[in-house]
Amino acid sequence: MTRAIYPGSFDPLTNGHIDIIERSVRLFDEVVVAILTNPQKSALFSVDERLDVMREILKPRFKNVKLDVFNGLLVDYAKKSNAQVIVRGIRAVADYEYEFQMGLMNRRLAPEIETVFMLPAESYSYLSSRLVKEIVQLGGSVKGLVPELVEQRLLHKLSPQLPS
Ligand code: PNS
Repeated sequence: MTRAIYPGSFDPLTNGHIDIIERSVRLFDEVVVAILTNPQKSALFSVDERLDVMREILKPRFKNVKLDVFNGLLVDYAKKSNAQVIVRGIRAVADYEYEFQMGLMNRRLAPEIETVFMLPAESYSYLSSRLVKEIVQLGGSVKGLVPELVEQRLLHKLSPQLPS
């Protein structure tokens, strides 16, 4: 049985993340989507809010997806979870350098764990949680980029700050 960890901030979950999850569940027996609980990184949504949304969206759709939270080193968490694989999505060349560095560092720390990079659909290659938050904050539409529930939660949390 191959268990993969798909780690990230997921602040918030986007259709790009879901695309990677959809591809991962076809390859691995179990995919654990793991939210990093990093008190240093200021997030818009609390870990509970992120978990709640992910539970509603992912649970009915994918039966071999588990949700979890982690802190500390990703490789320690992967080992503790008996996972053999770390999944990361690569959108564009800009992601490559960071992912390459992280992948090789994780390999140095835990050579038995393999990082698998996946490409999302082209239509999500420019999508990021950071941009989604910025667009909603400035009154733009993120329809088609995030699930409807995420869009609602974003609108609820971020009132538009339009230029005066
Ligand atoms: O969604 P993100 O912010 O791109 O995810 C980054 C994440 C969570 C994968 C990365 O920050 C991480 O693995 N953090 C855990 C700490 C760790 O293991 N650091 C060493 C990496 S070589």
